[in-house]
Amino acid sequence: MENKKFLDEIKFDFLKNYKNSSLQKVLFPEVKKYGYKPLVIPIGVSRYNVPFDSGYIEKYGRVCQIEFNESHVSLLIGMRGSGKTFLLGSIASRSYKSEVIPVFIDLKGEYVYINKPLQKKFSEQKSLMLKDEEPEGIPVINLVPYFSLKYQKFNFDFVPVQISFDELTINDFYTLVKREFTDTQREAISKIFSLKEKGKIKNFYEMLEKLKKMPKFNYQTIKQIDTSIRRLIDYGVIGSHYNFDVITPLKEGKAINLVLKGMPTEKKSEIYNYYLAYVALLIRKIFHGKENGLIPKKLKILTVLDEASRFIPNKGEPSSKHEIKEYISRGRYLGLSIIIATQVIEDIDPSAYAQLKYIFLSYNVGLDVLKRICKEWGVIEEERYYFSDTVKSYYRKMTKNIRTGHRDWMLIFVENKNGVIFRPLAPLFYHLSE
Ligand SMILES: Nc1ncnc2c1ncn2[C@@H]1O[C@H](COP(=O)(O)OP(=O)(O)OP(=O)(O)O)[C@@H](O)[C@H]1O
Ligand SMILES: [Mg+2]
Repeated sequence: MENKKFLDEIKFDFLKNYKNSSLQKVLFPEVKKYGYKPLVIPIGVSRYNVPFDSGYIEKYGRVCQIEFNESHVSLLIGMRGSGKTFLLGSIASRSYKSEVIPVFIDLKGEYVYINKPLQKKFSEQKSLMLKDEEPEGIPVINLVPYFSLKYQKFNFDFVPVQISFDELTINDFYTLVKREFTDTQREAISKIFSLKEKGKIKNFYEMLEKLKKMPKFNYQTIKQIDTSIRRLIDYGVIGSHYNFDVITPLKEGKAINLVLKGMPTEKKSEIYNYYLAYVALLIRKIFHGKENGLIPKKLKILTVLDEASRFIPNKGEPSSKHEIKEYISRGRYLGLSIIIATQVIEDIDPSAYAQLKYIFLSYNVGLDVLKRICKEWGVIEEERYYFSDTVKSYYRKMTKNIRTGHRDWMLIFVENKNGVIFRPLAPLFYHLSE
């Protein structure tokens, strides 16, 4: 309730500044009207309760719900085309109605029109919405890395952003510049970054100047570092023209969508890592903002991280991985939750999902993956190597339902060692899943 009161206040502030009535309409519609409860989010219609542990079947209501009373980490595993974008959108759009602000990391530009209501092809299907629900968009700001604009044109509203001098950490720098440096070069880099920390260098040009004048290092050592920094400046990857502001929109009650459309799939590509550094910065800004009180304490945030294996890979240490781990470990006390979505669980760093509350599995992950998950999180006893026939038959039903156009999901409540198979509601906002 505290959160609701707080959101009422920011809603008021926001509306004062905004004359646009259609925006007013989509902003925090009365929670009561649709029967939403603060921090409890309906995500689908329950079909079967899954008795993992023999004998005991937890009864869940007809409407399958998840809770945000405490911050938590969820894992969502789904093969290609299993409906990840659809389900994530459903969770995020109803989170917003239940007073949790979503932050998306959007690889394909699937969430760039979420300020518009759900498209008709879905909203006309009664089974995809709760009774009395109306399709409706949520206020969002689409942030696009400035360098990314050089490669493509976008036809949606967006704000370009850049990594500024003050914001760049040494970790980000190593992520941005994939090249191997010698020990001497690393020493020089540490030196200039420590001068930066102490406030003795104020911008990138001073950094380059300082680098040249460091007596201990010869020309050869310096040259490659200098070239790397200049390259990032020339590409506009780092710079101070476009402010990367996430605090203001969050304070105004707007969702944030960091659009990474154009990120190559090939890890070797130089620009692949540029995108990783932008994710690192977004995540860092959120938890620093919370810690420093720039983002109000009571505001709950849900980060939606699709294709998470790129940002928290099992192999490699990009700065995005470092920041996401920080977000998860500190987030518990700060009202920060995250959903980590992936196609293959092995591709993700295991420490990123150590403390899970919810696990979502698509119809096509296979019984082996289900079994592995259940063992790993103690949902079934370790010495049991089989599922009961009931679990198997429910699982098969889930797979068969795909023929009827439905994409059912299994949700595992890790603490309760229990599960439910549910049919997702559609997102309330417009989305572009293929
Ligand atoms: N629960 C659902 N009910 C009806 N249609 C669905 C459902 N889930 C997904 N779809 C439809 O199935 C298609 C694939 O869904 P979606 O794009 O969400 O999958 P995905 O797992 O994100 O795919 P990718 O791996 O390509 O990112 C889309 O056309 C989507 O609208
Ligand atoms: Mg998708």
